[in-house]
Order: sequence, then C-alpha cells, then structure tokens
Amino acid sequence: MTPTTGYTRLQIALHWTIATLVVAAWLASEDMDDVLEARLDADLAPLAGAPLHVWLGISVLLLAVIRLVVRLRSGAPEPTGSPPVQLAAHWGHRLLYLLMFAVPLSGMLTWGAGIEDMGDLHELAANGFLLVALGHALAAILHSAMAGDSTMSRMFTPRDR
Ligand code: HEM
Ligand code: HEM
Repeated sequence: MTPTTGYTRLQIALHWTIATLVVAAWLASEDMDDVLEARLDADLAPLAGAPLHVWLGISVLLLAVIRLVVRLRSGAPEPTGSPPVQLAAHWGHRLLYLLMFAVPLSGMLTWGAGIEDMGDLHELAANGFLLVALGHALAAILHSAMAGDSTMSRMFTPRDR
C-alpha cells in the first residue's frame, strides 16, 4: 500500500474514540468474575442486563472492524525515525490491531459461553493490551519531545484529502 501524507479525520476520530473506550472498559472491569458467575447461576440471556463493561467492550470491537476497513481503504503515513524504529512502529501497530480484536472476542466467548479458562486468557490479554498501548503512547510522546517530528501532530491534524 502506498504511504499517505497523514491520517483522515475519520481515522483520527476512530483512534481517540477507541483509545478512550479501551481504557473505560478496563476501568469498568472490576468484579466481572462475580458478575459472570451471577449471570451463569441465574441462567440469564447474554445481553439481558449486561454490565457496562460488556457494552464498552462490544463497542471497541464494532469500531475496530470499521477502523480496519477504513485503514485498508485510506492507508497510513510511513512511521518516522531510523529503520529499526520504523520496524518497531509497524509491528507495534499490527499488535495493537490484533489486540483490538482478540481482547473483545475473548471477552465475548467468556461472557457468552461461560468458558472460565477463556476468562483468564481474556484478563491476561486485556492487561497486556493496556501495557502495549502505554508503551505506544510513550513512544509517541518521545517522538515529539526528543525527535520533534510530525508523529504526534498527525494524530490530531487530518491530512488535506
Ligand atoms: C477492549 C475491551 C476490553 C477490555 C480492555 C477488557 C478488560 C478486562 C479485564 C482487565 C478483566 C479482568 C477483571 C478482573 O477480574 O479484575 C476483564 C474481565 C472480563 N471481561 Fe473484559 N475487557 C474487554 C472486553 C470485554 C467484552 C467485549 C466482554 C464480553 C462481551 C468482556 C467480558 C468479560 C468477562 C466475562 C470478564 C470476567 C472474566 C473472568 O474472570 O472469568 N470483556 N475484562
Ligand atoms: C488503547 C489505546 C490505543 C490504541 C489501540 C492505539 C492504536 C494505534 C494504532 C493501531 C495506530 C496506527 C495507525 C493506524 O493504522 O490506525 C496508532 C497511531 C498513533 N497513536 Fe495510538 N493507540 C492508542 C493510544 C494512544 C495514545 C494514548 C496516544 C498518545 C499519547 C497515541 C498516539 C498515537 C500517534 C501519535 C499515532 C501516529 C503514529 C504514526 O503516525 O506513526 N495512541 N495508534
């Protein structure tokens, strides 16, 4: 795919909305093990009275699908920096995309099918997601603080077309 000069308005909106929802889902995850047990004990339908955590997580998955389609159609700019830094950015972004799908999907399997081992995996992947996102945010901040390049500004200012 040919690199572009920046991200579109829609890509920027999706980036920040998803980032906010991921953090919100993580913050709203306390006691989810007990909530799951209560749902299974009461034999309730998966979406009957589902907690905020579930709705936030499903929203992440739906927006991630839209985001991937938009990304494939609109492209992205080449990461800045030396070749190893660019390679790390490429793989870091791919990992973030993978986690945007894997974390909500593993949560849905846990919630819908009540597979407890999947719950442990979901928790591990979700905590990993937050750590990777934190590393990604620090890398972006370092780019603008030390290299003074366009990395940070292009996730705020849309490209011309
Ligand atoms: C980006 C989205 C998500 C994040 C960041 C996230 C994060 C977490 C975290 C950190 C936990 C562990 C909570 C704890 O016990 O301390 C958890 C548990 C859980 N989450 Fe999610 N989650 C997401 C999406 C979802 C979705 C979409 C569903 C279901 C539709 C879901 C269902 C559950 C369930 C059932 C548990 C309890 C697992 C167990 O202890 O067996 N999550 N989630
Ligand atoms: C869960 C939270 C986050 C996720 C899942 C995420 C995901 C991504 C992904 C996948 C990209 C590559 C662009 C694309 O192809 O769509 C990206 C770019 C970017 N992100 Fe994030 N991000 C998160 C949080 C943050 C935070 C907190 C910051 C800043 C403090 C940030 C700053 C940036 C910047 C500046 C870029 C542009 C990088 C470039 O063009 O080389 N992100 N993000």
